[in-house]
Amino acid sequence: MPKDRYQRYQEEKAREGIGLIMFGGSSNVDIDSPSVFQQLNVGVDEVVPHLQALSRRVHDQGAAIMCQITHLGRRGESNKGAMLPTIAPSVIRETLHRSIPKEIDHADIQRVITAFAAAAKRCKDGGLDGIETLAGAHLIGQFLSPATNRRTDAYGGSLENRCRFGLEVYEAIRKAVGEDFLVGFRFVVDEGHDAGLSFDECV
Ligand SMILES: Cc1cc2nc3c(=O)[nH]c(=O)nc-3n(C[C@H](O)[C@H](O)[C@H](O)COP(=O)(O)O)c2cc1C
Repeated sequence: MPKDRYQRYQEEKAREGIGLIMFGGSSNVDIDSPSVFQQLNVGVDEVVPHLQALSRRVHDQGAAIMCQITHLGRRGESNKGAMLPTIAPSVIRETLHRSIPKEIDHADIQRVITAFAAAAKRCKDGGLDGIETLAGAHLIGQFLSPATNRRTDAYGGSLENRCRFGLEVYEAIRKAVGEDFLVGFRFVVDEGHDAGLSFDECV
């Protein structure tokens, strides 16, 4: 949770003249995206009052503030947090820690889409100016990339199909937060290896 010390740190940056703070790198939207490097948890309502206090402090200094939200997918670790299996578009070993994810089924796809929307709404209720997702190497990016998506259903294969999960996430987020809220996307412009996304596909 972004408690007092966290809030005072961001407040201090705002006081010194930062225009827009993007805090909470890889804040987790759901229980099977565990806090593997001490990220914030935006997957529970408990976070809202902390966000309200944080945004009030930063806005009082004249700065804007956004949070980065994500589902780690296979980048998560099944021996952390709730110790649940990690999920990914396909059963392809994560390179960072070499564990093997479970192939995400359609029920879990819907659950995670709903979780992204609920997390974005908590950020809005917390008084923030917007969110971005971190897509590259995390669940949305794992769907986008042919290196990690070998599905044969509507969520894999063509570029259009690989975009489907991310687009459904963004449609759900926009529906939950309305028009007056910034919704961004952090992604790579080229995965830089033959099996991955090229510059043209990323664009
Ligand atoms: C351990 C580690 C954790 C990172 N976590 C995040 C993150 O949560 N969100 C994000 O947008 N980037 C994250 N990054 C990427 C950095 O923001 C940055 O893009 C990357 O380190 C390349 O920039 P550099 O060459 O200045 O290090 C992380 C990088 C490292 C090394």
